[in-house]
Parts: sequence; C-alpha cells; structure tokens
Amino acid sequence: MVSPSLLSADFGNLQRDVEMLNASECDWLHIDVMDGMFVPNISFGQPVIKFIKKHAQKPLDVHLMIMDPGRYIADFKNCGADIVTVHYEACTHLNRTLAAIRDEGMKCGVVLNPHSPVALLEDTVQMCDLVLLMSVNPGFGGQKFIENTYSKVRQLRELCDRKNPSCLIEVDGGVNTENAAKLYEAGADVLVAGNAVFKSENPIATIHELKSK
Ligand code: DX5
Ligand code: ZN
Repeated sequence: MVSPSLLSADFGNLQRDVEMLNASECDWLHIDVMDGMFVPNISFGQPVIKFIKKHAQKPLDVHLMIMDPGRYIADFKNCGADIVTVHYEACTHLNRTLAAIRDEGMKCGVVLNPHSPVALLEDTVQMCDLVLLMSVNPGFGGQKFIENTYSKVRQLRELCDRKNPSCLIEVDGGVNTENAAKLYEAGADVLVAGNAVFKSENPIATIHELKSK
C-alpha cells in the first residue's frame, strides 16, 4: 500500500492535491502533525485535517509527532482521523493511549524513531493495527533514507508473525521508487512517500510505480 504524505503538498492548493490523491491508486493519506516540541518543527493541526477530510475519499492516516498525544485523541477523531499512530518515545502510558484510540473507533499504531529498537514492542504489538518505522529522524520531509531500516523491518515482521500476524508494517521517511521494492521484500505493507510523490513530475504515475514495486 502507499500513503502519500501531505506534508510535501502545496498548502496553497491543498484541495487540488487531495483531489489528485483521490484520483490516484494510493490507499491512505498520510498526515503529519508536529508540535515543535517532540520534533523541531511545527506543521498543522485539527482545522487543516478537518478540511482535508471534507475532500478526501480515502482513510486519513494521522502520524502524531507530538508529546503526550493521549491528550488529543478525541480531537483527532472529531476532525476525521481514521488511523492514528503515536510515538513510543512520546507516551508515558503507551498502552492506555492505544486503547483510547481504539475506543474512539480508530485504528491504532505505534511509531518507532530510528534509535528505538524493535524489541521495545514485545509487550505492545498485540494491541496494534499497525507499527510505523521511521526511516529518517522525524520532523522534516525530503531527508535521506536510513539503510538500517531494512533490517528493522525484517525484525518487526518476525515479531508480528509471532505475536500479531495481522499487524501492518508502515515505513516513513526517504521512501522512493528506488528503495520501495526492497522495503516490500523485507516485509513492509505500507510505504509513506512525501517528496517522492509531490516533487515528481507526475505524482499519479509515481504512486502507480510505488504500488507496483
Ligand atoms: C517526517 C514525516 C514524514 C515525511 C516524509 O517527519 O513523518 O511523513 O513527510 O517525507 P519524505 O517522504 O519526503 O521523506
Ligand atoms: Zn509521517
């Protein structure tokens, strides 16, 4: 599956870009929320997501790069999130936060930063619909893919096979048409792509290419 990241969209033409994604073969719309604390950047919040929801015909995959995301679960439900992922590194009571996302009727997932080992999820993966592995240090689009991610995807696949076979593996950061095939081979189910899609000359064709790797 492919989840294009709207962080790289043209915010002045957001409706146009969302409609382009509706017409493409992408599966989800990836929405990056940043608070300027957990990551050194601020992106956008609920009003913008509400607007995207109004025009989107596909599930909203909301990636929260914010401290203590448990404070805002109901808000993200209200603005139209379908899938919410929270960082392991940003939650003191991770299992409680995942349960809160589930209780709101959304799919839930944990995100691991590049420095966090897959083994941290031994006691949590059972609660996840998906796990998102960061393949860059979060905060910005257009960064270089970290090669160690392939081995983390393989380790995570093994953990999921053991404890939660239906859990999806998503990869985010520096994904492009060059590394997509290798990521799918390693066991990834969903690829996030920001710059690779929105800076390409033909985003619809790039999404098709990412899907067919
Ligand atoms: C990075 C964000 C990503 C970002 C990916 O912190 O979580 O979703 O938009 O952008 P690219 O694909 O350009 O690395
Ligand atoms: Zn993201």
